[in-house]
Amino acid sequence: MMEEQQLIRQAFAARERAYTPYSRFQVGAALLTEAGKVYGGCNIENAAYTPTNCAERTAIFKAVSEGERRFSCIAVVGATEGTPQAQFEACWPCGVCRQVLREFCGPDFRILTFSGANGIETRTLAQLLPDAFGPEMLGDGRKPE
Ligand code: THU
Repeated sequence: MMEEQQLIRQAFAARERAYTPYSRFQVGAALLTEAGKVYGGCNIENAAYTPTNCAERTAIFKAVSEGERRFSCIAVVGATEGTPQAQFEACWPCGVCRQVLREFCGPDFRILTFSGANGIETRTLAQLLPDAFGPEMLGDGRKPE
């Protein structure tokens, strides 16, 4: 689908800005809002290691801090610096990022990634984080709609 290719391209563009002096593993994300706006994100590493932020969380925190709450899709691409596109492997969000997505995104929210072998692959958030703990468990009404 054209929209998916475009979002993957935007994730590749965001990956160009990855700050990864320690792992050299560069990740880019492109988060699509329901209204059609795209927020990019890259991973940002740190000399103390644990403060490192993943590309996905960079994108979602940027978006939420700008007032966004409703998202339909995120594209994520990741590979070691210098890897040719044909050799990319699928890069699904880490467990922490899945939980952060779960705060704002429903079970049908789509996650896209790209590999040289398979092209674009898609999963839903429900597939990547089944039986999740989410904001509705607390009943505090923070979730939109
Ligand atoms: N990383 C991401 O940005 N997203 C992922 O989905 C997996 C891991 C980053 C964190 C760290 O900077 C580097 O990749 C290696 O783990």
